[in-house]
Amino acid sequence: MKVAVACDHGGFRLKETVLEVVRKSGHEAIDLGTHSTDPVDYPDYAEKVGLALQHGEVDRGILICGSGVGAAVAANKMRGIRAGVCHDTYSAHQSVEHDDVNVLALGARIIGPELTVELVQAFLGASFTGEERHIRRLSKVSNLERCGSDLEDV
Ligand code: RB5
Repeated sequence: MKVAVACDHGGFRLKETVLEVVRKSGHEAIDLGTHSTDPVDYPDYAEKVGLALQHGEVDRGILICGSGVGAAVAANKMRGIRAGVCHDTYSAHQSVEHDDVNVLALGARIIGPELTVELVQAFLGASFTGEERHIRRLSKVSNLERCGSDLEDV
């Protein structure tokens, strides 16, 4: 698989670990930045990963910020993006198997490199089961992307 990896300054310290485990797991890692601890805005990096997925340039994405939350919130605003903060290995694979999550969000201020390796391996090793009940639920999730588009400002 091709995997886009991006972080903000808060996630920078884990990015090399993530890139390395993606490559060692036999996948191609695409590094979309940031490239230092200089402050940047996490939505800009969520957008880079989301666009790469939307354009079919990658199969999965991994975003790293301080908590994982901001990056996931931003990425989930984009059509077709299903991002989850997963700091336990069960969620890292079950979120793909049931929810077809395509972006793993990690918080570098919360987890260390050893757990990061296990989370990325669990995420990349999992596949969507394609079971009818999950497809039905995901179709309802997709419908939510249009919810509120008629409102002026929220
Ligand atoms: C940056 O300081 C921090 O707010 C960001 O990395 C992230 O934790 C947001 O969710």
